[in-house]
Amino acid sequence: MSSQRVIITGGSGDIGCAMGARLFRDGFSVTLLDLKAPSEVSDDVKALMALSQDGHDCLYRQVDVTNRARVDEVLSECEKDLVAVLANAGIVKSEPFLDISETYWNQHLNANLTGVFHTLQSAARIFVKNKRPGQIIITGSWVGTVPWPEIAAYSATKAAVEMLAKSAARELAEHKVRVNVIAPGIVNAGLARHQLNTEPQYAARVAKVIPLKELQTAEQVADIASFLCSKSGDYLTGSTILADGGASLFQFD
Ligand SMILES: NC(=O)c1ccc[n+]([C@@H]2O[C@H](COP(=O)([O-])OP(=O)(O)OC[C@H]3O[C@@H](n4cnc5c(N)ncnc54)[C@H](O)[C@@H]3O)[C@@H](O)[C@H]2O)c1
Repeated sequence: MSSQRVIITGGSGDIGCAMGARLFRDGFSVTLLDLKAPSEVSDDVKALMALSQDGHDCLYRQVDVTNRARVDEVLSECEKDLVAVLANAGIVKSEPFLDISETYWNQHLNANLTGVFHTLQSAARIFVKNKRPGQIIITGSWVGTVPWPEIAAYSATKAAVEMLAKSAARELAEHKVRVNVIAPGIVNAGLARHQLNTEPQYAARVAKVIPLKELQTAEQVADIASFLCSKSGDYLTGSTILADGGASLFQFD
C-alpha cells in the first residue's frame, strides 16, 4: 500500500484536504494540487503535509488545473506509483441568470469543466501509457441534476462532468482505467460554507431543502472517495454516487 499514490486537485480546499487526510489514513501516499501557494494553505493542509509514516507521504504542488502543460508536468512527476487522480478543484459564485457575464461564464467553465477535462485526460494518458489500471474520480454535485437558483453556470459544469465521466469511462474501460463521480449535497465546508456565511438568501433556502435536516461534512464526502479507492469499489465505472441527504428529492414545503 505504501507505494500507491493518489493525486487530489483542489487539495488545499476543505473537501480536497479531507479526502487527502482520509486516503492518507487508508495507507496511500497523497499529492495535493491547488492554485494556492504553499505559504497560503490552511493549517489542516500543513498538518497533513507534516505527516509521513511507514513509507508513505503527503506532498503539495501549486498547480492551476486550467494550465494543461502544468497539469501534465506534475502528474508525470508523480506517475510512478499513481493509482487514482481526484479531479476536485472547483469554484462557484452566485449570480442571477439574467446578470451572468461572458467573463463569469468562462471562469466557471474553465475551472470546473476544462480543468476537469485536463486532469482526466492527463491522468488517463499516464495510466494507459504505463499499461496500469487506475481510477479518476470527479467531484460533481447534486446540483448537476437539480436547478438550484443563481448558479446556472456552476450547475451546467457539474452536469457536464457527469457525461464527460461516462464518455471517458466507456472508452477507457478496455485499459482498466475507471472513471466515477462523487456528487455531494450541501457541505458545511468550502464553497457552500462561504455562501452560507455571505449570502442570506442562500442560507434561507438551505434551511428548507435537506430532508435529513443536517448539512453534510467534508469527511462524509471523503468517506465516499475512500470507498471508491478501496477494493470494495473496484467494480464501479461510469457511476455517479449521489450523497445529498435527500436534497434532490421533491420537497412539499
Ligand atoms: N462545499 C459544497 O457544498 C460542495 C457541494 C458539492 C460539490 N462541491 C465540490 O467540491 C469541490 C471542492 O469544493 P470545496 O467545497 O472544498 O471548496 P474549496 O473552495 O474549499 O476548495 C476548492 C479548491 O479548489 C481550488 N481551485 C479553484 N480553482 C482552481 C484551479 N483553476 N486550479 C487549481 N485549484 C483550483 C481552490 O483554490 C480551492 O482550494 C468542488 O469541485 C465543488 O464544486 C462542493
